[in-house]
Amino acid sequence: MKRRFIKTYLAVLFVLFVAVSVLFVKFAAATQVLKDNDISSDINFSIGKRRLRGDLWTTSVPSINYMSPGKGNLIGGIYEGVVKNMSTHSVKKWNLEITVTRPCYLNNAWNGFVEIYRNDGLLFQPKIDLKKARETDFSIPTIKNLNNILIPLEPGDRIIFEPYMGKFIPGKVQDVNSVYIGFIFYTEETSGLMRFDTWKINYQFEHAIFFHPLFYVFVVFYIVWLYFVASGFYFIAVKRSEEHDRKRDKLTIEQVIKVFTRFIDAKDFYTAGHSERVGRYSFKIAKEMGKSEDECMNAYYCGLLHDCGKIAVPDEIIAKPDKLTDEEYVLMQEHTIMGYAILKDLTLIPDASFAAFYHHERFDGAGYPNGLKGEEIPEIVRIVSVADVFDCMSRDRYYRKAFPLEAIIEDFKKNSGKQFDPVVLNAFFALAEKGEFNEILKK
Ligand SMILES: [Fe+2]
Repeated sequence: MKRRFIKTYLAVLFVLFVAVSVLFVKFAAATQVLKDNDISSDINFSIGKRRLRGDLWTTSVPSINYMSPGKGNLIGGIYEGVVKNMSTHSVKKWNLEITVTRPCYLNNAWNGFVEIYRNDGLLFQPKIDLKKARETDFSIPTIKNLNNILIPLEPGDRIIFEPYMGKFIPGKVQDVNSVYIGFIFYTEETSGLMRFDTWKINYQFEHAIFFHPLFYVFVVFYIVWLYFVASGFYFIAVKRSEEHDRKRDKLTIEQVIKVFTRFIDAKDFYTAGHSERVGRYSFKIAKEMGKSEDECMNAYYCGLLHDCGKIAVPDEIIAKPDKLTDEEYVLMQEHTIMGYAILKDLTLIPDASFAAFYHHERFDGAGYPNGLKGEEIPEIVRIVSVADVFDCMSRDRYYRKAFPLEAIIEDFKKNSGKQFDPVVLNAFFALAEKGEFNEILKK
């Protein structure tokens, strides 16, 4: 039962572990989703013309004929953007997407690469570093104005800016949580300066999981889980150790008792092996009566020791082939009292002393030494009594031959409720019917 319990216990823990781990993986994945353009609280972005002297200039472009009117003056300007991480989580990676709202020319960008998509969504210019790019590096038409390479853009075109190394932006709990980026745009004089009304930032948090209260619920679960698993294994180790000790103790007791019973049996050649056989019969009867393993072993030990008082009876009386005198008979009967005196301190098998004391009591109260009746006699002793008489009758004695099993059963039936407990006898008869005694009777 205990083994099944511990197996179930560990199985439940394992299933819990798997189930919670699946939830944890889902939870961890859910906390790392890409968030688009969520400027409400997490990411703050602002971009506008830089306000330093010389950040705005005009240049004459007589040769440009790309857009209407295509001639005249262009206004060049440095536009600076700041990406600020307002959350407590670190931003793992990010990029900025700006949609151009007026005809313009992109000239430069720093601290990152740019990609350009047409307003139909098609890739127009693959990723390029404008600070280092030469005219031949472009896959789109460009215009050269003095030493500047200008990329003409139309309303609806999108610029994707991806930072070089500043992909990581710490959370606001740390010192630096801003990244600066910059562009140079040219616009036609008639269009005015650039406006950045349409933009978005794509970003992904790193380790957002640590800031989530649920994460700590999982941590607590795993700590508690580990505690329960460790307890389970500790329980198994303790049980194994106990079982090992129990087996060793059992073996020690059994061996010592067996040696002791051989001393008893050695007093009488004709009853040699009597104690061992009574022990075995008692075990079988107890088992047939539905007793537990421990109770059956108890019955076995009681059977082994029941006659130990004979050690104190003179050899000439024990082995006397003739009928005993009244005086001798009294001495013989005293083996029950002597047995009790010998065994009363054997607390490991407390019933053994009662088995020695009462195994000649009869169910009807006509036995000795105390004339106990019925259930006044301990049940285990009622079992040993049947086993004892069965062994006596099934063996040769000085004065008679062994009785066959059928005759013994017949005699027992007559004595049911008189000498013997009918319940114990029923178990005995059932065993006899199953042929359980055949093997032992042959020995
Ligand atoms: Fe006896």
